[in-house]
Amino acid sequence: MSPRAGSEDAGSGGNTRELGLGETEAGTRPVVRGRFSGRVVVVTGGASGIGAATCRRLAAEGATVVVADIDETAGAAVAAEVGGHFTAVDVTDEAGVVELYASAAAAHGGIDVLVNNAGISPPEDGSILETGLEAWRRVQEVNLTSVYLCCRHGIPHLLARGGGAVVNTASFVAVMGAATSQISYTASKGGVLALSRELGVEFARRGVRVNAICPGPVNTPLLLELFAKDPERAARRLVHVPMGRFGEAEEIAAAIAFLASDDASFLTAAALMVDGGIHAAYVTPL
Ligand SMILES: NC(=O)c1ccc[n+]([C@@H]2O[C@H](COP(=O)([O-])OP(=O)(O)OC[C@H]3O[C@@H](n4cnc5c(N)ncnc54)[C@H](O)[C@@H]3O)[C@@H](O)[C@H]2O)c1
Repeated sequence: MSPRAGSEDAGSGGNTRELGLGETEAGTRPVVRGRFSGRVVVVTGGASGIGAATCRRLAAEGATVVVADIDETAGAAVAAEVGGHFTAVDVTDEAGVVELYASAAAAHGGIDVLVNNAGISPPEDGSILETGLEAWRRVQEVNLTSVYLCCRHGIPHLLARGGGAVVNTASFVAVMGAATSQISYTASKGGVLALSRELGVEFARRGVRVNAICPGPVNTPLLLELFAKDPERAARRLVHVPMGRFGEAEEIAAAIAFLASDDASFLTAAALMVDGGIHAAYVTPL
């Protein structure tokens, strides 16, 4: 990231929310102050779930946040909440992605961090025996082609700034198999992982770090609704989680913030598993 680190609020739009030493965010998790002061971040899929939690976390640490999402109502609400800006964009649309970064850079003087997080997992994507070509292609477009587009058109802005950080949201299914298959989703996340690794290596001497985050299953409203209707389905998954619970969006956001921050200055081309230990487990605790 650029050496402007620590420059107090340079061009940040004044959205820094100061926390006292030892004070906690939402009463639970300590927040490291100011790691993103003076930094401009663009978060795709920022209207909901992990993306929204990431917008809140980065704004709490001083970032100027550009919330990018196809959902205008929810996206604008998150942007208002974090004192940031909202840009409506479909991340599969190349012209829209180009404009997203051009307008963010013009409004805020540049871009320091890309969080490429938008993604879908529709019910039409299941076993390979049932998943049609249209569903396959749609998931590849939204989950993988979008990350290609965001890196292709976002990274030049980081280079123009003298460096920066990219965090791409993959998934634990990029490195593990599931008998409850969502074949296109899994393949798309494997692609995100390989793409991130390669870009991390390519740009390692040009000041741009590129990492992937691999969340385990996260408590989202959709997931909770599904499992409330079908407790057996939840139990089948929970038995594989050493920690015995699903993650919270805030826990994934904290790891994204770490990867995007200077605390991760020697980390690039990596995949950070944030999954309660799933990927490492053979037998889990009773
Ligand atoms: N929730 C989980 O358990 C989990 C686990 C591993 C990985 N992930 C990944 O984390 C990321 C975020 O997931 P989430 O659970 O927060 O989902 P979510 O549905 O709560 O949020 C995804 C956001 O992406 C936006 N989006 C979808 N298509 C878009 C498009 N074409 N253009 C712009 N925005 C678009 C949606 O409007 C939404 O705001 C995804 O990439 C997902 O695959 C989630």
